[in-house]
Amino acid sequence: MSMVTSKAVLHVLSGAVPQSLSSDLCSSNSDLVFYSKFLVKSVKKKGPKHLRSLKCSGMSGCQIGSYRCKCLGGGLYRNMPIDRLKLLSCKCQQAESVSGVDTGGGNEAWFVDNAKKLNLNGSIPEFEDVEKLKRENEASMSNDKAGTGKSTFAAASVDSFEEEAWELLQASMVYYCGSPVGTIAANDPTNSNVLNYDQVFIRDFIPSGIAFLLKGEYDIVRNFILHTLQLQSWEKTMDCHSPGQGLMPASFKVRTVPLDGDDLATEEVLDPDFGEAAIGRVAPVDSGLWWIILLRAYGKCSGDLSVQERVDVQTGIKMILRLCLADGFDMFPTLLVTDGSCMIDRRMGIHGHPLEIQALFYSALLCAREMLTPEDGSADLLRALNNRLVALSFHIREYYWIDMRKLNEIYRYKTEEYSYDAVNKFNIYPDQISPWLVEWMPNKGGYLIGNLQPAHMDFRFFSLGNLWAVASGLATTAQSHAILDLIEAKWTDLVAEMPFKICYPALEGQEWQIITGCDPKNTPWSYHNGGSWPTLLWQLTVACMKMNRPEIAAKAVSVAEKRLSRDKWPEYYDTKKARFIGKQSHLFQTWSIAGYLVAKLLLADPDAAKILTTEEDSELVNAFSCMISANPRRKRGPKSSKQTYIV
Ligand code: GLC
Repeated sequence: MSMVTSKAVLHVLSGAVPQSLSSDLCSSNSDLVFYSKFLVKSVKKKGPKHLRSLKCSGMSGCQIGSYRCKCLGGGLYRNMPIDRLKLLSCKCQQAESVSGVDTGGGNEAWFVDNAKKLNLNGSIPEFEDVEKLKRENEASMSNDKAGTGKSTFAAASVDSFEEEAWELLQASMVYYCGSPVGTIAANDPTNSNVLNYDQVFIRDFIPSGIAFLLKGEYDIVRNFILHTLQLQSWEKTMDCHSPGQGLMPASFKVRTVPLDGDDLATEEVLDPDFGEAAIGRVAPVDSGLWWIILLRAYGKCSGDLSVQERVDVQTGIKMILRLCLADGFDMFPTLLVTDGSCMIDRRMGIHGHPLEIQALFYSALLCAREMLTPEDGSADLLRALNNRLVALSFHIREYYWIDMRKLNEIYRYKTEEYSYDAVNKFNIYPDQISPWLVEWMPNKGGYLIGNLQPAHMDFRFFSLGNLWAVASGLATTAQSHAILDLIEAKWTDLVAEMPFKICYPALEGQEWQIITGCDPKNTPWSYHNGGSWPTLLWQLTVACMKMNRPEIAAKAVSVAEKRLSRDKWPEYYDTKKARFIGKQSHLFQTWSIAGYLVAKLLLADPDAAKILTTEEDSELVNAFSCMISANPRRKRGPKSSKQTYIV
């Protein structure tokens, strides 16, 4: 590793990225696993198995029973023809082994107990059950008007929120061939317009997966990892164009369809959406990055490293890396993406190099580096990975960082500098500094801007990108503290009545018209345009735990607890201060529920955040300092302005 890293540094410093890299990375098909077009199993409509399927049909509409494989495919694996039958029987075994993990019984028992309590028997809890719990809770609170035993009641209601959240999370589980494989995006009995919220979204499942892991329920996470891996190379096209090999879908759905040629049987099909059906046809760039982060968390939490060591999983990691590390026309080490390629999955002016993608990219690179098993064929990939890590962290820490001092520096920028050692490298015109920012920037604190392109700085504060930059260590220690300082200083803007603003401020007026294309869902202070998203609680908590400042997360959680359960776990809130449930917000949104649970679990056990956080190792730190001392910008500046960034 050290050889690889130091070579990578040399390459970065000399600006000589190996020419052979991109072609090596892209042409290496030899270890691509062939994935069958459909991973399907069938169930006879009649007979005992049908009974089982009926019994379980309440589980998010999935049927359960015993299955056989269908839709055989052929292909190449390590350049060897694969016998179609062999491949699929092997897949069946794999699917079986996926569900056969022994979790030690502890949590299965926990789930069974809870299910029994609510008389669930594997079906979605009745709306009335949840309502009953709430009524009981409210009754106990109103009995306490005199204020006697207030704290006991408060504690009891908090406990009941958690209990309710676990029950709802359990009810959101989606089953494929009898095994849990994910959680549905929203389970809102009042909403007839489900759109694609009845699907398992990769990014939405992350907090669910973490909650399950922290509860010791590993099965569902393992299944999710392995099944989504099989969807990775699904042959999907949009108007005859296929997305890059290695792309993970945004979401998938378990469909029960009639079995060809057999009127009496149905089969279950995993049907992914890579964006070809999504509103706006957005590419889910974040899915693969989250997948890698979850895979590492699974190994760290369960101690089961066998999943990440599997050949197909290693191949999956490499395919994602190859896709991300392939050379393009880019001048920057940041990942170039189209608008809406992450949590903000519609037009919001975040095309180019949005911070959220960069933070996830950095995090995924570090996680992958930890998990890749060394083998001769992956030397180039590792070199490219190390190379990118150093260049990416330098680029973000140096050019995305903004605080009072830096803002003042930009305010006095000279422009049109044609030279190798320009200070204003991206030719930013100082007039771009928006009036809101001049007022908003606190004296203490700072943040990473949303996007950086030639002659363009997007000064909006994007929460997920900043929080994940802290969690992953993409931001330096000092920067990370400064981000948390800013959150504290701007509490009434970023938290107010519900944590956490997705971005600040909202686009209004002509800016909204031009940048969102007059999107009626993204009106100012709604949805992605300055709305408040409870799910972000978990990323906030991870960041706070990493920096040992749990009190910030605890305060945010107590704000959320005032409304989340009462408001039926909405997807997002509207208005500047998050006073209203979002106009088109789904209720019983799973990642709002899971986000709350993860925050609570981490507050109870701050050390557990380590399954998600990453640190630079000493080699990367060295490489980074080499890069800093070679930075022409430093050479030019006067001695007193040495501290152009916080390290
Ligand atoms: C919305 C969100 C997206 C989320 C999806 C499902 O489209 O913008 O981030 O994954 O809903 O909840």
